[in-house]
Amino acid sequence: MDKDFAFTGGRPDPFTFPTEGLIEASEKALRKLGGDLVNYPGEQGYEGLRELASMRFERREGVPLNVDDISITSGSMQALELVLGAFIQPGDTVLTEEYTYSGTLGIMRHLKANIVGVPMDYIDGMNMDALEEKLKDLKAQNIKPSFIYTTSNHQNPTSAILSLERRERMLELAEEYDTLIVEDDCYGDIDFVPNPTPDALYKLDTSNRVILIATFSKILGCGLRQGYFVAKSPHKEMIHANRWDGGCSALASAIVAEFFKEHLDEHLARTNAAVGAKCRAVVGTLREDVSDICTWTEPRGGLFLWIDLPEATDMDKVAEIAAQHNVGYSTGSAFHYRGDPVKSIRLAYAYTHLDYVAEGIGYLCDAIRAAQPESADIAAD
Ligand SMILES: Cc1ncc(COP(=O)(O)O)c(C=O)c1O
Repeated sequence: MDKDFAFTGGRPDPFTFPTEGLIEASEKALRKLGGDLVNYPGEQGYEGLRELASMRFERREGVPLNVDDISITSGSMQALELVLGAFIQPGDTVLTEEYTYSGTLGIMRHLKANIVGVPMDYIDGMNMDALEEKLKDLKAQNIKPSFIYTTSNHQNPTSAILSLERRERMLELAEEYDTLIVEDDCYGDIDFVPNPTPDALYKLDTSNRVILIATFSKILGCGLRQGYFVAKSPHKEMIHANRWDGGCSALASAIVAEFFKEHLDEHLARTNAAVGAKCRAVVGTLREDVSDICTWTEPRGGLFLWIDLPEATDMDKVAEIAAQHNVGYSTGSAFHYRGDPVKSIRLAYAYTHLDYVAEGIGYLCDAIRAAQPESADIAAD
């Protein structure tokens, strides 16, 4: 196996990918569907996977989802395109954590949204006083935002988990300022400690203000392209009004449903243990090599760790030296709502083999050190 120091992209662990289990599930799915596959799956998609998504929610949240409110999409990226497309007209305002998923920012920019970044911290997520301040400012300008977008669990890119208190406050603010919440729960279920995530905003909501987005990409594989959104009327219809495909592959949906019907707990236990070990290996190497100059988040789950580097770091030099050792990572500015050139790095740790994590992160730490001004002075001496 070639060494791969690819700490880029939010991919799950390839070494616990359940190939054999999916082969069995494929046979079951094909026998079950057979000639039904001549039909278009339709805008809400294969019912068996919607039932599974409901069961998955119940497993964590204690209550099921209404299967009629779930729509299967081609990954959660299509869910984001559909949901954001339904609620953003050019010039509309949306609020989000100041650091957020670059793909979501890409869609918002494409739709010509006015993106307002809300300050956050890396543990508990978006700051609610800051959110209130922004909502107040917007109201003073007669602007009603289309929605607040949040990645509530194991946030991309910081790994923050929006605390229960903040979730409750966000719902109150959404009500007070009459706006919606788009809750992107892409990373719920990837837990390294028992039950680290509070109740979903979607579960806490009592006034139909939350649209939930989720995916099987991050607990199984991005290549399956099986995601979903959950929206009640009238939002469900507003979102579907924007959908023109014939629905998502019913075969892929049925394979995922057959597999997880039997193996959800077992698969999560296995893959989360593997991903958690890699995360700890990253943290261990950072502690040894750069604890005097950097700070970083210590994820309770999810796929990402965020490192803040010293302000004086030469980011081009980090990139150049890391590339010489074949180490890939994502630069922090890709996740900043305005694309500010921040001195931060996002590491996605699930993909690289555990045996290579320390070596790869070691090279990255060397690159970070070499990119400090003192290091240039030393070299010049
Ligand atoms: C927060 C968030 N939402 C959505 C996605 C899209 O994932 P997919 O389309 O594979 O479900 C990602 C992928 O990284 C993400 O981080």
